[in-house]
Amino acid sequence: MTFKTKILCIGAGYVGGPTMTMIARKCPTYKVTVVDINKARIDAWNSDNIPIYEPGLDEVVKAARGKNLFFSTDVDQAIREADIIFVSVNTPTKTFGEGAGRAPDLQYWEKTARQILANSDSSKIIVEKSTLPVRTAEAMERILNGNPKGIEFEVLSNPEFLAEGSAIQDLENPDRVLVGSRETPSGLAARKALVDIYAHWVPKEKIIESNVWSAELSKLAANAFLAQRISSINSISALCEKTEADVGEVSYAIGMDSRIGPKFLKASVGFGGSCFQKDILNLVYICESYGLHEVADYWESVVRMNQWQQKRFVQNILTGMFRTVAGKRIALLGFAFKADTGDTRESPAISVALGLLEEKAQVVVSDPKALENAKKDLAGAEVIYEEDPYKAADGAHAIAILTEWKLYKELDYAKIFKSMKQPAFIFDGRNILDHKKLFEMGFNVFAIGKAALKHF
Ligand code: NAD
Ligand code: UGA
Repeated sequence: MTFKTKILCIGAGYVGGPTMTMIARKCPTYKVTVVDINKARIDAWNSDNIPIYEPGLDEVVKAARGKNLFFSTDVDQAIREADIIFVSVNTPTKTFGEGAGRAPDLQYWEKTARQILANSDSSKIIVEKSTLPVRTAEAMERILNGNPKGIEFEVLSNPEFLAEGSAIQDLENPDRVLVGSRETPSGLAARKALVDIYAHWVPKEKIIESNVWSAELSKLAANAFLAQRISSINSISALCEKTEADVGEVSYAIGMDSRIGPKFLKASVGFGGSCFQKDILNLVYICESYGLHEVADYWESVVRMNQWQQKRFVQNILTGMFRTVAGKRIALLGFAFKADTGDTRESPAISVALGLLEEKAQVVVSDPKALENAKKDLAGAEVIYEEDPYKAADGAHAIAILTEWKLYKELDYAKIFKSMKQPAFIFDGRNILDHKKLFEMGFNVFAIGKAALKHF
């Protein structure tokens, strides 16, 4: 079959894989190729065991793969063929040099730009899919344009808003798709080519067009606003624990105000995931570089509150269990940063596990999908891994719920209680359990933002 347009995505990760799969599925006349330098990842995308766990993704990949969706490691050849190139490489927080701990590490991004230039002999549209600092498109244009080959590149920003665990739903029915471009004739033509792809399935009124800088900044701002809501309710959760107010009731009451709305107001052990902290620190770094120190401080406090919430959870375990957990078996139920994913990047479970290990607890980690990643995160630490939650809790002094997996709501806690050391403690870091019922069974129950229920 000859395809109308050839699309390439560089980076076959949590964003590149699912987004390109959806485009391939919805646009059968486009050839979609996804490339990566990580051969094992590409082999997995081409196998029955795709490299990321995401509900519903498996079926969509199988339906499109080999027809108009291809996974490959031949980056150079794929660049030569492509009309439109999405770049979805990782942009982690820098760990070295200037801006370490704040600025995004753009080395993967820049290498991609140079590789595109080296392998192109026709004009192309380049789409920033990765989350990048505002004005990155300018740097990309400088690298790409003015080349001696006389070919032109139009750089667009099309940030991705999917959340892990619901990626397929989010891609199929997005709240909005954002496309930013230069407002020149060639910029607007490139913008139209990208809008045409999404228009295959996204209603026109949900496709927002803007200038390229607004699109870049909107992505950072959206993540900062979402994370800010979680830190806000988590700050209130600490006050609830002191005052016998119930954070669930408070969040319900404030969320009923249509100006505030109910979403993203679930108090928790803290937000995790590869992006919230990284993107806020990215925003903080940009603000500082423009001398906007008050703005930088304001957003940084969202991250500080999140780090404090995770520390506070460990402190609550420690003080709740008579100020010592040394030698005590503590079962962590859940290690993924949220339910329905195996991803553990920046998961609060990591800092909780490390905090408990520092107190010399015997940590048992359980998770239905994230044990392999947990083993990498806690490499070198003395930890027991046990997928079966009943076995993990057997003989434990305490259980801590760290991921809101549905299966943890449905466990037989009476059976678990009998298998545990007494007095038995439960620390619900996700507020998913029936605390009153657990207390009546005999557990000492500590939830986020609620008064503790203790038998002593
Ligand atoms: P990821 O680490 O899962 O995937 C990135 C991939 O890029 C890796 O497989 C890596 O091998 C590959 N890569 C790096 N350099 C390369 C090169 N030169 N050539 C070919 N491949 C290369 O990252 P991710 O979670 O998919 O995130 C990618 C970007 O999308 C980030 O900027 C992130 O902030 C943003 N984002 C992520 C999410 C999410 O839910 N994970 C959502 C929205 C936006
Ligand atoms: C988030 C955003 O929701 C996406 O729109 C964005 O595209 C993505 O980041 C990104 O840029 O990577 P994600 O991190 O996958 O998506 O998942 P979320 O559902 O946002 O959850 C993030 C963290 O916040 C999780 O640890 C979750 O448990 C926690 N959370 C979420 C709460 O503690 N309380 C809430 O009310 C909501």
